[in-house]
Amino acid sequence: MKNYLDCINDYKKEDLKEAASIIKNGGLVLFPTETVYGIGADGLNEKAVKNIFLAKARAQDNPLILHVSDIEMIKKLVKNINSIENKLIKEFFPGPLTIIFEKKNIVPNIITGGLNTVAIRMPSNKIAHDLIELSSTPIAAPSANISGKPSGTNIDDIFDELNGKVDYIINGGNTKIGVESTVVRVIDNNIHILRPGKITYDDLKRIANVIVDEHVLNDVKESQKVLSPGMKYKHYAPNTKCILIYSDDKNKLIDKINEYYNDNTLVIATNKIANMYKNKICLGNTLEDISHNIFKALRQADKENKELIIIEGVKPTGLGLAIMNRLIRACSHNYIEI
Ligand code: TXA
Ligand code: MG
Repeated sequence: MKNYLDCINDYKKEDLKEAASIIKNGGLVLFPTETVYGIGADGLNEKAVKNIFLAKARAQDNPLILHVSDIEMIKKLVKNINSIENKLIKEFFPGPLTIIFEKKNIVPNIITGGLNTVAIRMPSNKIAHDLIELSSTPIAAPSANISGKPSGTNIDDIFDELNGKVDYIINGGNTKIGVESTVVRVIDNNIHILRPGKITYDDLKRIANVIVDEHVLNDVKESQKVLSPGMKYKHYAPNTKCILIYSDDKNKLIDKINEYYNDNTLVIATNKIANMYKNKICLGNTLEDISHNIFKALRQADKENKELIIIEGVKPTGLGLAIMNRLIRACSHNYIEI
């Protein structure tokens, strides 16, 4: 296939030159990061960025992350970097962390949805890093999915959804982490977690006091102001109705699942629980396994044509907070804790 590069096993940096020239010329490139795939465009080219919004059918007021390859790029985009932000950069960049800064005028308003802040991330995935460096511009990239759907963690899952909407596809295999980056903003010396991810509360606590935004696990009421527009929108949802069940008592959990389970339902759970049922998708055993597999599982679940998807929840601490943030949204807050 034309306009497709397979990097699954290996690649040379120069293989990415074609994709980089597409970015420079205002095109869209589907590329892997360590979290999820992104739909990338030149973050300083308004027209190109507009096409990302069209490809995803994304709300115009939901701002995009600018992906950079080095500190010099960050300095061109943000007004000032305070000492806590500096420590976050030192500790966690490159990696699965996004920091919200006050933006410079060079950042187009379409990136920020009209806000005076901009989200910056320096991915550690080598393909992403090389692509940004070769493009010599910050790459704007939301998760690779039509708005509202689970983020793409491998090309097979999103090929039909996005083929024809992008100009070039880079296949880097399955993404390592599987859920999107942790999004934070420093306000009055506190680190606010706006979206949890692989960089956890405890990781951030080593730098400064941490506040988990109330909307990480709770619904946004219509009149409420939010620190991140993404919190307002429907996310990660399969077409099939879902219910999320959590209990730290396995017997209670199984009893509750059994109340809902029948031939027309499907269980998505850790291996031990899932294997008790005929209709199932196994997520593995650890929080890392669940994070790695959850979006693929949510997409696969739709193909099973069931009436209800029953999902096992996890304890919302560590990486579990990121998983529950995604699952509660996937289930449209249809959540039972016992
Ligand atoms: O791991 C990731 O972050 C992936 C990969 C591709 O890097 N990207 C990603 O982008 O998840 P997206 O657009 O799907 O999610 C970005 C989130 C949204 O919830 C958005 O509202 C929030 O970041 N955001 C972006 N700019 C912001 C800003 N200036 N203030 C507050 N929130 C912001
Ligand atoms: Mg997204």
